Amino acid sequence: MFDDLRSFLQKLDEIGQLKKVEGADWNLEIGTINELMAERQGPALLFDKVKGYPAGYRIATNILHTVIGQRLAFGLPEGLPDVQVIKDWKDKWHKYKPVPPVEVKSGPIQENIITGDDIDILKFPVPKWHELDGGRYIGTGSVTITKDPDEDWVNAGTYRVMIVDNKTVTFYASPGKHVSIIREKYWARGENCPVVVCFGQEPLLFGISTMPMPWGISEFDMVGYLKSKPVEVIKGNVTGLPIPATAEIVIEGFSSPPSVASSQEGPFGEWTGYYASGMRVEPVIEIKAIYHRNNPIIHGQPPIKPPVNTWFPIPLHTATFLWNRLETAGMQGIQGVYVHGPGNRVIAVVSVKQRYVGHAKQIGTLTAALLSGGSLTGKYVIVVDDDIDPANWGDVMWAVSTRCDPETSIDIVRGFLSSPIDPTLSPEKRAARDTTTAKVIVNACKPFHRIKDFAPVNRASDELREKVIEKWNYLFTN
Ligand SMILES: Cc1cc2nc3c(=O)[nH]c(=O)nc-3n(C[C@H](O)[C@H](O)[C@H](O)COP(=O)(O)O)c2cc1C
Repeated sequence: MFDDLRSFLQKLDEIGQLKKVEGADWNLEIGTINELMAERQGPALLFDKVKGYPAGYRIATNILHTVIGQRLAFGLPEGLPDVQVIKDWKDKWHKYKPVPPVEVKSGPIQENIITGDDIDILKFPVPKWHELDGGRYIGTGSVTITKDPDEDWVNAGTYRVMIVDNKTVTFYASPGKHVSIIREKYWARGENCPVVVCFGQEPLLFGISTMPMPWGISEFDMVGYLKSKPVEVIKGNVTGLPIPATAEIVIEGFSSPPSVASSQEGPFGEWTGYYASGMRVEPVIEIKAIYHRNNPIIHGQPPIKPPVNTWFPIPLHTATFLWNRLETAGMQGIQGVYVHGPGNRVIAVVSVKQRYVGHAKQIGTLTAALLSGGSLTGKYVIVVDDDIDPANWGDVMWAVSTRCDPETSIDIVRGFLSSPIDPTLSPEKRAARDTTTAKVIVNACKPFHRIKDFAPVNRASDELREKVIEKWNYLFTN
């Protein structure tokens, strides 16, 4: 695994998975080149000599969309089926022991420190990614760091960041996200919330900061655990918060209560494929210091309309977490978990070896409750038998088509957490800030009380197949 973004890019370059682009315009051209390349499942991109900016001020995009990028960033072995990779990660999470970061005296992030009147966030070539975006977004592949004022743990999460002016940015987090809760705690005491945001960092820290770690578990400690090595941090001069020592660009500052300072945010081309949350007033960060490495690199991870997947091809960010929680809740017989749909977060499939009547229903209901994380997450839940591969969409649809009786096996449960970026929210609910959604739970398992006499499956048995393959081997080999 990699200790910074640039060593990861170097590796991608060495294996022919990086294209360098010079002279592109930050205004829509970089965003559109990235979109076209992602649609083609192309390599990662490194933009340099951006129009109007000096050489060396770079932007890397498309670095985790591909299976190769994700495998390298997460240190995953090659050749394993997706569900096995998810299972291995789930097993690792069961054994989690925090490896806290270590404070070092200095790091490359201190190569340039800018304060006072010299602060200008637009010294970096920040793209306007999509045509209807309301501004330039420096934070799309970023990590926002805050500390809970009561419980003294550090949260790191990815929340989009838009530039307001040279010294101010917005940070948009939907209801229920940890930073939303943490900043509210400061504001309720009449205090400003100290914040650090990194705009380019080691890929694993970014990956983990996009995952719904349970409340109280620091993403820094999880990265340290997964790497068997603590993350090196320096102490921020202004906030005292930890700053990853090898980050590319970092801002430090404070977020005042919205009654004191806020700004319009959005619209932004979102991962759902729409600009659904429109423009709203959101909290801001007043920048008190900028740190950056020489020849800094912004990590750009802008959303692209589905079915292009801009998150992780293997849904470690949703399926691992769900599987881990189902087992922690005492569920037995789970054979595999996968999450399909936009962002690999909307349609959860759990495969189970049914052990008792009501087992599948229990797992479906728990899945709907446990798989959360904002807009549309786990909106559809499908429970299938253990002969169905949850990663194989065709297999899953076969089970839904042939084992689910719509009259008795589909439930709609209302009132789950969603967010303003949910395009189905009615104008009335939006105005009332009721950002909830219903979830659909589909039991596509054979009914437990009929499991023994359910119609047999029309497929040659494994023994017969083996025999036939042995005898007719030449037909099945190249
Ligand atoms: C590229 C990317 C961008 C994201 N942007 C946002 C965002 O703008 N706002 C938000 O609330 N969640 C966003 N998320 C989801 C959060 O990062 C995710 O829910 C994470 O678990 C939040 O951390 P927390 O659980 O510590 O709050 C984004 C995820 C990814 C992968």
